[in-house]
Amino acid sequence: MKGIILAGGSGTRLYPITKVYSKQLTIIYDKPLIYYPLSVLMLGGIKEVLIISNQETIPLYRKLFGDGSSIGMQIQYAIQKAPNGIAEAFIIGEKFIGNDSVSLILGDNIFYGKLDFFYKAVSSNKKGATIFAYQVKDPQRYGVVEFDKNGKAVSIEEKPKKPKSNYAVPGLYVYDNKVIEIAKTLKPSERGELEITDVNKYYLERNELYVERIGRGVAWLDTGTPEALLQASNFFGVIEDRQGTKVACIEEIAFQRGFISRTKFSILIESLPESPYKEYLKNVLNE
Ligand code: TTP
Repeated sequence: MKGIILAGGSGTRLYPITKVYSKQLTIIYDKPLIYYPLSVLMLGGIKEVLIISNQETIPLYRKLFGDGSSIGMQIQYAIQKAPNGIAEAFIIGEKFIGNDSVSLILGDNIFYGKLDFFYKAVSSNKKGATIFAYQVKDPQRYGVVEFDKNGKAVSIEEKPKKPKSNYAVPGLYVYDNKVIEIAKTLKPSERGELEITDVNKYYLERNELYVERIGRGVAWLDTGTPEALLQASNFFGVIEDRQGTKVACIEEIAFQRGFISRTKFSILIESLPESPYKEYLKNVLNE
Protein backbone atom coordinates (compact mmCIF):
# COMPACT_ATOMS: atom_id res chain seq x y z
CA MET A 1 0.00 0.00 0.00
CA LYS A 2 1.36 3.39 -1.03
CA GLY A 3 0.30 6.68 0.55
CA ILE A 4 -0.36 10.10 -0.95
CA ILE A 5 -0.70 13.36 0.95
CA LEU A 6 -2.40 16.01 -1.13
CA ALA A 7 -1.06 19.25 0.25
CA GLY A 8 -1.63 21.92 -2.37
CA GLY A 9 -4.85 23.83 -2.81
CA SER A 10 -5.50 27.54 -2.74
CA GLY A 11 -6.35 27.96 0.93
CA THR A 12 -8.49 30.99 0.16
CA ARG A 13 -10.40 30.70 3.42
CA LEU A 14 -7.14 31.29 5.27
CA TYR A 15 -6.13 34.40 3.34
CA PRO A 16 -3.84 36.32 4.10
CA ILE A 17 -1.98 33.52 5.93
CA THR A 18 -1.91 31.58 2.69
CA LYS A 19 -0.75 34.53 0.60
CA VAL A 20 2.86 33.47 1.20
CA TYR A 21 2.43 30.31 3.17
CA SER A 22 1.05 26.85 2.45
CA LYS A 23 -1.93 25.86 4.58
CA GLN A 24 -0.35 22.52 5.46
CA LEU A 25 2.67 24.28 6.98
CA THR A 26 0.57 26.35 9.36
CA ILE A 27 1.05 25.45 12.97
CA ILE A 28 -1.20 23.17 14.94
CA TYR A 29 -0.07 23.74 18.52
CA ASP A 30 3.58 22.66 18.36
CA LYS A 31 4.18 21.30 14.88
CA PRO A 32 3.27 21.89 11.23
CA LEU A 33 -0.16 20.70 10.19
CA ILE A 34 1.19 18.18 7.69
CA TYR A 35 2.71 16.11 10.52
CA TYR A 36 -0.80 15.03 11.52
CA PRO A 37 -1.90 13.44 8.21
CA LEU A 38 1.59 12.00 7.70
CA SER A 39 1.38 10.34 11.11
CA VAL A 40 -1.96 8.73 10.18
CA LEU A 41 -0.36 7.05 7.15
CA MET A 42 2.60 5.97 9.28
CA LEU A 43 0.33 4.50 11.94
CA GLY A 44 -1.37 2.55 9.15
CA GLY A 45 2.07 1.04 8.43
CA ILE A 46 2.56 2.92 5.16
CA LYS A 47 6.23 3.71 4.50
CA GLU A 48 6.17 4.93 0.91
CA VAL A 49 4.54 8.33 0.64
CA LEU A 50 4.17 10.89 -2.13
CA ILE A 51 3.59 14.49 -1.09
CA ILE A 52 1.82 16.52 -3.78
CA SER A 53 1.84 20.29 -3.60
CA ASN A 54 2.49 23.38 -5.66
CA GLN A 55 5.89 24.24 -7.06
CA GLU A 56 6.78 26.91 -4.46
CA THR A 57 6.00 24.72 -1.47
CA ILE A 58 7.64 21.44 -2.47
CA PRO A 59 11.14 22.70 -1.45
CA LEU A 60 9.77 23.46 2.02
CA TYR A 61 8.36 19.97 2.46
CA ARG A 62 11.67 18.60 1.24
CA LYS A 63 13.38 20.64 3.94
CA LEU A 64 11.03 19.16 6.54
CA PHE A 65 11.22 15.49 5.57
CA GLY A 66 14.04 15.02 3.02
CA ASP A 67 13.77 11.60 1.43
CA GLY A 68 12.17 10.26 4.61
CA SER A 69 15.05 7.89 5.36
CA SER A 70 15.77 9.41 8.79
CA ILE A 71 12.36 8.11 9.90
CA GLY A 72 12.60 4.86 7.94
CA MET A 73 10.36 6.02 5.12
CA GLN A 74 10.61 6.75 1.42
CA ILE A 75 9.11 10.14 0.77
CA GLN A 76 8.79 11.49 -2.75
CA TYR A 77 7.40 14.76 -4.03
CA ALA A 78 5.34 15.82 -7.02
CA ILE A 79 3.92 19.09 -8.26
CA GLN A 80 0.28 19.88 -8.85
CA LYS A 81 0.36 22.89 -11.17
CA ALA A 82 -3.03 24.21 -10.08
CA PRO A 83 -5.73 23.05 -7.67
CA ASN A 84 -7.48 20.97 -10.32
CA GLY A 85 -9.19 18.72 -7.84
CA ILE A 86 -8.45 15.96 -5.37
CA ALA A 87 -8.81 13.15 -7.91
CA GLU A 88 -5.93 14.59 -9.94
CA ALA A 89 -3.64 13.13 -7.26
CA PHE A 90 -3.96 9.69 -8.88
CA ILE A 91 -2.98 10.99 -12.30
CA ILE A 92 0.00 12.89 -10.88
CA GLY A 93 0.90 9.90 -8.73
CA GLU A 94 0.49 7.23 -11.42
CA LYS A 95 4.16 6.26 -11.61
CA PHE A 96 4.57 6.39 -7.86
CA ILE A 97 1.56 4.13 -7.27
CA GLY A 98 2.75 1.62 -9.89
CA ASN A 99 0.76 -1.59 -9.50
CA ASP A 100 -0.07 -1.04 -5.84
CA SER A 101 -3.11 0.06 -3.88
CA VAL A 102 -3.11 3.55 -2.48
CA SER A 103 -4.36 5.53 0.51
CA LEU A 104 -4.94 9.21 -0.03
CA ILE A 105 -5.12 11.70 2.82
CA LEU A 106 -5.75 15.41 2.44
CA GLY A 107 -3.00 17.51 3.95
CA ASP A 108 -5.39 19.45 6.15
CA ASN A 109 -7.23 16.48 7.65
CA ILE A 110 -6.49 15.34 11.18
CA PHE A 111 -7.69 12.13 12.81
CA TYR A 112 -7.19 11.50 16.48
CA GLY A 113 -8.28 8.52 18.55
CA LYS A 114 -8.56 4.84 17.84
CA LEU A 115 -7.65 4.53 14.17
CA ASP A 116 -8.70 0.89 13.78
CA PHE A 117 -11.12 1.85 11.03
CA PHE A 118 -8.14 2.87 8.91
CA TYR A 119 -5.81 0.03 9.92
CA LYS A 120 -8.51 -2.47 8.94
CA ALA A 121 -9.03 -0.89 5.54
CA VAL A 122 -5.28 -0.87 4.85
CA SER A 123 -4.60 -4.41 6.04
CA SER A 124 -7.60 -6.00 4.32
CA ASN A 125 -6.58 -4.30 1.05
CA LYS A 126 -9.88 -5.20 -0.64
CA LYS A 127 -10.71 -4.97 -4.31
CA GLY A 128 -12.56 -1.70 -4.70
CA ALA A 129 -12.53 1.36 -2.47
CA THR A 130 -12.97 2.05 1.21
CA ILE A 131 -14.06 5.46 2.36
CA PHE A 132 -15.32 6.60 5.73
CA ALA A 133 -18.34 8.41 7.09
CA TYR A 134 -18.28 10.75 10.07
CA GLN A 135 -21.21 12.50 11.68
CA VAL A 136 -20.98 16.29 11.52
CA LYS A 137 -23.18 19.28 12.26
CA ASP A 138 -22.64 20.91 8.85
CA PRO A 139 -22.65 18.12 6.24
CA GLN A 140 -23.37 20.50 3.34
CA ARG A 141 -19.68 21.53 3.40
CA TYR A 142 -18.57 18.02 2.45
CA GLY A 143 -19.28 14.96 0.33
CA VAL A 144 -22.33 13.44 2.02
CA VAL A 145 -23.15 9.75 2.13
CA GLU A 146 -26.66 8.39 2.48
CA PHE A 147 -27.30 4.93 3.98
CA ASP A 148 -30.30 2.65 3.56
CA LYS A 149 -31.90 0.98 6.56
CA ASN A 150 -29.43 -1.91 6.39
CA GLY A 151 -26.54 0.51 6.73
CA LYS A 152 -25.50 0.17 3.09
CA ALA A 153 -24.34 3.35 1.32
CA VAL A 154 -26.77 4.24 -1.44
CA SER A 155 -25.71 7.71 -2.57
CA ILE A 156 -22.91 10.24 -2.31
CA GLU A 157 -23.35 13.89 -3.14
CA GLU A 158 -20.71 16.62 -3.20
CA LYS A 159 -21.63 19.63 -1.06
CA PRO A 160 -25.42 19.15 -1.36
CA LYS A 161 -27.71 22.06 -0.46
CA LYS A 162 -30.09 19.57 1.17
CA PRO A 163 -27.94 16.80 2.65
CA LYS A 164 -29.61 13.38 2.86
CA SER A 165 -27.73 12.55 6.08
CA ASN A 166 -25.33 14.05 8.61
CA TYR A 167 -22.54 11.76 7.45
CA ALA A 168 -19.65 13.55 5.76
CA VAL A 169 -16.86 11.79 3.88
CA PRO A 170 -13.52 12.72 5.49
CA GLY A 171 -10.38 13.29 3.44
CA LEU A 172 -8.99 9.78 3.88
CA TYR A 173 -9.57 7.15 1.22
CA VAL A 174 -8.24 3.69 0.38
CA TYR A 175 -8.33 2.54 -3.26
CA ASP A 176 -7.28 -0.39 -5.36
CA ASN A 177 -5.10 0.23 -8.40
CA LYS A 178 -8.08 0.88 -10.70
CA VAL A 179 -8.35 4.37 -9.25
CA ILE A 180 -5.67 5.64 -11.65
CA GLU A 181 -7.70 4.67 -14.71
CA ILE A 182 -10.91 5.94 -13.14
CA ALA A 183 -9.33 9.33 -12.42
CA LYS A 184 -8.22 9.58 -16.06
CA THR A 185 -11.80 9.19 -17.28
CA LEU A 186 -13.14 12.07 -15.16
CA LYS A 187 -14.27 15.37 -16.60
CA PRO A 188 -13.89 18.55 -14.54
CA SER A 189 -17.02 19.47 -12.57
CA GLU A 190 -18.82 22.80 -12.75
CA ARG A 191 -16.27 24.22 -10.31
CA GLY A 192 -13.52 23.02 -12.65
CA GLU A 193 -12.18 20.20 -10.46
CA LEU A 194 -11.66 16.47 -10.88
CA GLU A 195 -13.95 15.44 -8.05
CA ILE A 196 -13.09 12.68 -5.60
CA THR A 197 -16.83 12.22 -5.16
CA ASP A 198 -17.04 11.17 -8.82
CA VAL A 199 -14.37 8.53 -8.19
CA ASN A 200 -16.35 7.24 -5.22
CA LYS A 201 -19.58 7.21 -7.23
CA TYR A 202 -17.88 5.10 -9.89
CA TYR A 203 -17.04 2.45 -7.28
CA LEU A 204 -20.50 2.77 -5.69
CA GLU A 205 -22.25 2.11 -9.01
CA ARG A 206 -20.22 -1.07 -9.42
CA ASN A 207 -20.89 -2.27 -5.89
CA GLU A 208 -17.23 -1.89 -4.97
CA LEU A 209 -17.48 0.93 -2.47
CA TYR A 210 -17.17 0.14 1.25
CA VAL A 211 -18.21 2.92 3.55
CA GLU A 212 -17.08 2.46 7.15
CA ARG A 213 -18.60 4.68 9.79
CA ILE A 214 -16.17 6.32 12.17
CA GLY A 215 -17.55 6.46 15.70
CA ARG A 216 -17.72 9.63 17.74
CA GLY A 217 -14.80 8.48 19.91
CA VAL A 218 -12.55 9.56 17.07
CA ALA A 219 -11.90 13.24 16.41
CA TRP A 220 -11.86 14.22 12.77
CA LEU A 221 -10.78 17.82 12.34
CA ASP A 222 -10.29 19.67 9.12
CA THR A 223 -8.41 22.87 9.34
CA GLY A 224 -9.48 25.04 6.45
CA THR A 225 -10.58 28.11 8.44
CA PRO A 226 -8.95 30.29 11.14
CA GLU A 227 -11.51 29.05 13.70
CA ALA A 228 -10.71 25.43 12.88
CA LEU A 229 -6.95 26.07 13.16
CA LEU A 230 -7.40 27.61 16.58
CA GLN A 231 -9.70 24.81 17.74
CA ALA A 232 -7.26 22.15 16.57
CA SER A 233 -4.34 23.90 18.31
CA ASN A 234 -6.31 24.15 21.53
CA PHE A 235 -7.45 20.53 21.26
CA PHE A 236 -3.93 19.12 20.87
CA GLY A 237 -2.50 21.62 23.36
CA VAL A 238 -4.87 20.32 26.02
CA ILE A 239 -4.18 16.66 25.26
CA GLU A 240 -0.40 17.02 25.07
CA ASP A 241 -0.24 19.11 28.20
CA ARG A 242 -2.47 16.78 30.19
CA GLN A 243 -0.80 13.53 29.12
CA GLY A 244 2.76 14.69 28.67
CA THR A 245 2.76 12.83 25.35
CA LYS A 246 2.87 14.18 21.84
CA VAL A 247 0.33 13.64 19.09
CA ALA A 248 1.67 13.13 15.55
CA CYS A 249 5.31 13.05 16.61
CA ILE A 250 6.63 11.35 13.50
CA GLU A 251 10.02 10.40 14.97
CA GLU A 252 8.35 8.69 17.94
CA ILE A 253 5.92 6.83 15.65
CA ALA A 254 8.79 5.70 13.41
CA PHE A 255 10.54 4.23 16.46
CA GLN A 256 7.45 2.71 18.11
CA ARG A 257 6.28 1.12 14.85
CA GLY A 258 9.70 -0.33 14.08
CA PHE A 259 10.43 1.84 11.02
CA ILE A 260 13.81 2.63 12.62
CA SER A 261 16.03 0.83 15.10
CA ARG A 262 16.87 2.14 18.58
CA THR A 263 20.36 3.09 17.35
CA LYS A 264 18.97 5.03 14.40
CA PHE A 265 16.43 6.71 16.67
CA SER A 266 19.17 7.81 19.02
CA ILE A 267 21.30 9.21 16.15
CA LEU A 268 18.24 11.05 14.87
CA ILE A 269 17.63 12.61 18.28
CA GLU A 270 21.24 13.77 18.51
CA SER A 271 20.87 15.58 15.19
CA LEU A 272 18.01 17.75 16.47
CA PRO A 273 18.50 21.23 17.91
CA GLU A 274 18.21 21.61 21.70
CA SER A 275 14.46 21.96 22.22
CA PRO A 276 11.56 20.61 24.25
CA TYR A 277 10.85 18.39 21.21
CA LYS A 278 14.31 16.84 21.50
CA GLU A 279 13.89 16.38 25.27
CA TYR A 280 10.59 14.64 24.65
CA LEU A 281 12.18 12.21 22.19
CA LYS A 282 15.04 11.51 24.63
CA ASN A 283 12.43 10.51 27.20
CA VAL A 284 10.77 8.21 24.66
CA LEU A 285 14.16 6.61 23.99
CA ASN A 286 14.91 6.08 27.67
CA GLU A 287 11.48 4.86 28.73
P1 TTP B 1 -9.98 22.36 0.10
O1 TTP B 1 -10.18 22.65 1.55
O2 TTP B 1 -11.13 21.88 -0.68
O3 TTP B 1 -9.42 23.63 -0.65
P2 TTP B 1 -8.23 24.60 -0.30
O4 TTP B 1 -7.21 23.97 0.58
O5 TTP B 1 -7.74 25.09 -1.61
O6 TTP B 1 -8.86 25.77 0.57
P3 TTP B 1 -9.99 26.86 0.24
O7 TTP B 1 -11.26 26.10 0.06
O8 TTP B 1 -9.97 27.69 1.47
O9 TTP B 1 -9.56 27.63 -0.97
O10 TTP B 1 -8.82 21.30 -0.06
C1 TTP B 1 -8.71 20.21 0.78
C2 TTP B 1 -7.29 19.71 0.81
O11 TTP B 1 -6.87 19.21 -0.45
C3 TTP B 1 -6.26 20.76 1.16
O12 TTP B 1 -5.27 20.10 1.96
C4 TTP B 1 -5.72 21.21 -0.16
C5 TTP B 1 -5.80 19.96 -0.97
N1 TTP B 1 -6.06 20.16 -2.40
C6 TTP B 1 -5.03 20.05 -3.29
O13 TTP B 1 -3.87 19.84 -2.90
N2 TTP B 1 -5.28 20.16 -4.61
C7 TTP B 1 -6.53 20.38 -5.09
O14 TTP B 1 -6.69 20.45 -6.32
C8 TTP B 1 -7.60 20.52 -4.15
C9 TTP B 1 -8.99 20.77 -4.62
C10 TTP B 1 -7.32 20.39 -2.83
